[in-house]
Amino acid sequence: RPKLPQYNTIEDALRLLQKSKNIIVLTGAGISTSLGIPDFRSKDTGLYSKLEHLGLSDPQEVFDINVFQEDPSIFFSIAKDILPTEKKFSPTHAFIKLLQDKGKLLTNYTQNIDNIEANAGILPEKMLQCHGSFATASCVKCGFKVPGEAIFDDIREGRIPQCTACRDTLAQEALKPQGLKRKRSSTGDHKDRKGLEDSSEEDDYDIPEPGVMKPDITFFGEGLPDEFGQRLLHHDCDLVDLVVVIGTSLKVAPVAEVPGILPRHVPQIYISRTPVSHTQFDIDLLGDCDVVVSELCRRAGWDLQHHMIPPD
Ligand code: OAD
Repeated sequence: RPKLPQYNTIEDALRLLQKSKNIIVLTGAGISTSLGIPDFRSKDTGLYSKLEHLGLSDPQEVFDINVFQEDPSIFFSIAKDILPTEKKFSPTHAFIKLLQDKGKLLTNYTQNIDNIEANAGILPEKMLQCHGSFATASCVKCGFKVPGEAIFDDIREGRIPQCTACRDTLAQEALKPQGLKRKRSSTGDHKDRKGLEDSSEEDDYDIPEPGVMKPDITFFGEGLPDEFGQRLLHHDCDLVDLVVVIGTSLKVAPVAEVPGILPRHVPQIYISRTPVSHTQFDIDLLGDCDVVVSELCRRAGWDLQHHMIPPD
């Protein structure tokens, strides 16, 4: 995407923010780091730099659907560290809410799974969680959906959450005559095993397991919500008049392709600590995003109300 030559400075960014009416804000993990939530790829502090102990060939495998299906314990061993806890939000979340209040926010496309946008009061209809979130969880076997909080205790205590709907069905099946199928003994003679003290009753039956509850996060290998492409290509593309990308390394497709997909005449601003080289923005405002948006608001004369606890 060639740069638009007329936009360069923070004053240009300010003018664009003031005059635009349909802003797409594309966010990533960098907008939540000031709340103590690690991003993914920052050297030393990012989540992926801390996963060597898991012995994965690529730390991104913790979010790989095939790895999850094979061994969900790998994901759950780190899930407690990225679980949304308190109802807090950063000044950058407050900035997006301010754009919403001013009637300027077209859509906040967020890659974040922490669901913190909701804490700041960003309306569900103004936001698209491109990679899903912890807000709900679904059974990988039967699809049963529960509110995310229902599995938070399990996650915190290091248990793999299991589907209660599957468990109920299995319990009912087990009560039927012939409900449990006897398993052939792996040691050969079944009678021999009965006499052994440490052989449990359960070992003698083929007991199906309930499904694992997976937070409704989009893992690598899974498709993004249908609404992502629908809204971007068939609605927002025609309306957008400014793009503001904040706190993302833009390394993960298809979200990384969004700036290149949007109409070329629409100006794009990038706010982050680290510049990106694979995509060209019109204005780069490099630094801590909370500081940058606070300064933009100060210069615009906008009151960036930032409460750590959301207002009622
Ligand atoms: P990354 O960790 O790849 O990028 C975060 C960016 O934010 C980096 O460029 C940081 O320099 C910058 N950053 C961090 N703190 C900042 C701050 N306080 N102010 C300004 N910039 C800051 O995270 P994402 O781009 O969000 O997928 O990662 C995209 C996806 O990759 C995630 O959604 C996740 C991951 O695999 C899933 O969870 C499925």
